[in-house]
Amino acid sequence: VHALVHKFEVRRSSHTRLCSTKSMLTVNGQFPGPTIYARRGELVVIDVINRADANISIHWHGVKMPRYPWTDGVTQVTQCPISPGKRFRQRMLLSNEEGTLFWHAHIDWTRATVYGAIIILPPKAHTYPFPKPHAQLPILLGEWWNADVQQVFEKSIAEGVAADFSDAFLMNGQPGDLYPCSKQDTLKLSVEPGKTYLIRMVNAMMNYIMYFKIKDHNVTVVGMDGAYTKPLNTDHIAIAPGQTMDFLLEANQPPSRYYMAGRVWASPYWHTYIPTTGIVEYVGNYTPPSTPVLPSFPGFQGWAESTHFSKRLRSLANDNYPIKLPMNITHNLFFTLTINVGPCFSNSCKNDGRLLASINNISMLYPETQTILEAYYKGIGGVFTPDFPAKPSTIFDFTQGYKPEDEGHTQFGTAVYMLDYNSEVEIVLQGTNFGIGIDHPIHLHGHNFYVIGTGFGNFDPTTDPPRYNLIDPPLMDTVSVPKNGWSTIRFKANNPGVWYMHCHFERHYTWGMKMVFIVKDGEAPNEKMLPPPPDMPRCEAPSQQ
Ligand code: C2O
Ligand code: CU
Repeated sequence: VHALVHKFEVRRSSHTRLCSTKSMLTVNGQFPGPTIYARRGELVVIDVINRADANISIHWHGVKMPRYPWTDGVTQVTQCPISPGKRFRQRMLLSNEEGTLFWHAHIDWTRATVYGAIIILPPKAHTYPFPKPHAQLPILLGEWWNADVQQVFEKSIAEGVAADFSDAFLMNGQPGDLYPCSKQDTLKLSVEPGKTYLIRMVNAMMNYIMYFKIKDHNVTVVGMDGAYTKPLNTDHIAIAPGQTMDFLLEANQPPSRYYMAGRVWASPYWHTYIPTTGIVEYVGNYTPPSTPVLPSFPGFQGWAESTHFSKRLRSLANDNYPIKLPMNITHNLFFTLTINVGPCFSNSCKNDGRLLASINNISMLYPETQTILEAYYKGIGGVFTPDFPAKPSTIFDFTQGYKPEDEGHTQFGTAVYMLDYNSEVEIVLQGTNFGIGIDHPIHLHGHNFYVIGTGFGNFDPTTDPPRYNLIDPPLMDTVSVPKNGWSTIRFKANNPGVWYMHCHFERHYTWGMKMVFIVKDGEAPNEKMLPPPPDMPRCEAPSQQ
């Protein structure tokens, strides 16, 4: 396969937002980082060179990395960090992904500034399953901290509290004109009347599900997480961290300037949220409004609206893009997603009884000096336990009211769930909450999955499965499991390797809402993991949590 080689130099560079300048980690000095363009089926090679003063790793989010977890980029799970001065040649083999994905750092909170889009075009001589757009624009949603993000992260770990709020929301690195000192850099999309534009949206934010809306325009969603969807016409989209969405914008309104805006959709925190804004600017002669009007959004804490939006998404499911839904389930799993209270992660932690988060009441700890992948590959014992439970020991029943004994406790562990090659897996992801709560965007590495059902309340094994969508369920790599609700996913474990699953809210992730699947090798040579590259980063010192 012909490989395109990219050079990713991780280094500090200075950037100014909200009237203040700071030095921060970037790739090639760019914020957001460079966009990788490729075609379906291509091999992309990225030379990651660490010229910064901090450890780094880069993950290709949504790329399945067939048989090659070695360069998936998760510290302590698949690799040790790339330390300052070192480099790592990472292979990203595209298989059936087509659409928009992204890459981001995967150590501590470095992904706050180290991220960029991956745009996967159809193979040469192929077309989109929709009319060719006149032009396309990636829009990456992000967050800005005036403070150094590593310090924000370390302070929250040390004190056992939630990290400080970010200071702005961003589209392509720009807060927009509702924030101080930002007006002249506001993102602009100039459109010709009558033409159609493809917007490739990535939610690269750390902690927020967003609504996105364009004043007076509907959009048509045509893809999500690197797979096409049935066209969905809508006046707003809801997008969770880790999700991508491709949608068409038709410039079919009277020529003018229109706000496009992203606003936080819900949060358990009491805080003022200013939308990030951009401008859709029609080409032509007209008198623009002196102040364009913001689109009106669904209500804040609009749990129902957001779930309603994602429930309308469907796979294309036609002859050219058939679905491959597993129908002979060999593993029926039930995972609870819980915010718990527990002891501190770090020795310096002052606040006993800090917040933790868990899957099946296990808050994952990283192995310190070895990666799970290397330990598995070389058969080194004592690094992980292969006993992640198929079900939680206690199932919280919130229809019975608050029962702290169900939710209060979690155990630390480095437990892994083992899957035979080609197992067919179904997981009911059940959100549980005590006190405040929010949805959990659950992301799986190495695979994508069909979301066959979602609902509010406790999952009911009798009445819910008959209502599953087995015809055209959407294919995702990140599903937003509703607060006090559930989602059921299915995937075929046909990718041998070590694959992470976790909440894509950085806060919950840090608190331990993460686990690992190991998919074993199959019989045939092309069903086995490939050997590691020669330049795997070495573990030099125990890394931080
Ligand atoms: Cu986008 Cu494990 O992450
Ligand atoms: Cu979460």
